[in-house]
Amino acid sequence: MTVPTITLNDQTTIPQLGFGVFQVPPEETAATVSKAFEAGYRHIDTAQMYGNEQGVGDAIAASGIARDELYVTTKLNNGFHRPDDAARELARSLEKLQLDHVDLVLIHWPLPTRYDGDYVSTWRALIDFQKTGGATSIGVSNFQPEHLDRVIEETGVVPVVNQIEVHPFFNNQAARAASAGHDIVVEAWSPIAKGAVNDDSTIKGIAAKVERTPAQVALRWHLQRGDIVFPKSMRAERMAENFALFDFELSGEDMAEITSLDRGEDGRLGPNPDAFDYIPN
Ligand SMILES: NC(=O)c1ccc[n+]([C@@H]2O[C@H](COP(=O)([O-])OP(=O)(O)OC[C@H]3O[C@@H](n4cnc5c(N)ncnc54)[C@H](OP(=O)(O)O)[C@@H]3O)[C@@H](O)[C@H]2O)c1
Repeated sequence: MTVPTITLNDQTTIPQLGFGVFQVPPEETAATVSKAFEAGYRHIDTAQMYGNEQGVGDAIAASGIARDELYVTTKLNNGFHRPDDAARELARSLEKLQLDHVDLVLIHWPLPTRYDGDYVSTWRALIDFQKTGGATSIGVSNFQPEHLDRVIEETGVVPVVNQIEVHPFFNNQAARAASAGHDIVVEAWSPIAKGAVNDDSTIKGIAAKVERTPAQVALRWHLQRGDIVFPKSMRAERMAENFALFDFELSGEDMAEITSLDRGEDGRLGPNPDAFDYIPN
């Protein structure tokens, strides 16, 4: 199965389907990511906050997969937004990942109520990290439309992606549209709503019709909308299921029906980025 790539606004390419490691316990990460490699995944989405970059690095080192066949993303943790902290901790990420560069690094959360509302100097720290060769591409996560406008206006550097919560029950359309307006590709986190798509009668009905699982239908919906996804699973059979997305297609009608499941803010599973201010110890 060949995973399609998307060309980003810095002319690099990214596999549209990857594997996410949020909530994969550190001690199980190397084995889990190795299983994901066996299933065919080559794009891994981790973060400093997940505490499992070392395990991702160990799996990469053991895999024997050529570096240019892999796409690795990490994210700057909320406690490290000051430029000096960012530079130091991003260098530590490379050590843990055992890489001389990541393909993509993101600001994990904008934290508009922290750091005197300054996420622009953090964005400049990522620009500097890219200049020194630490990351091929730089982007953001959980940025609302005004956060995107501000970093672009003040630095002239456009993030390549905005990684935001998107799934059938929370379309997050304002942030998606603002991203598209800046030629920023959306990465949809919690793409199967943490498994809740399995309990939805509309998605189950479409799945029965196209002879796929509800998770496959939801993931296919994202892909056909042009978003990037990286579902997480600890189980080999689900890793394989979530990877088998390229031999069927959803009709326009099915697509629209899934989109109409949007519950607006009530559908959000994660925190609202305007208020989220968590800084880990
Ligand atoms: N930037 C951010 O702030 C942010 C926030 C959240 C997530 N993310 C990224 O997005 C990735 C994916 O999001 P997520 O992990 O929150 O949620 P998700 O991928 O939507 O769902 C993962 C959950 O669904 C279960 N699952 C996986 N495949 C399944 C299937 N085929 N059928 C039924 N259940 C299935 C998993 O359980 P098992 O493991 O037991 O299979 C797990 O509990 C993360 O790993 C992370 O990389 C980013």
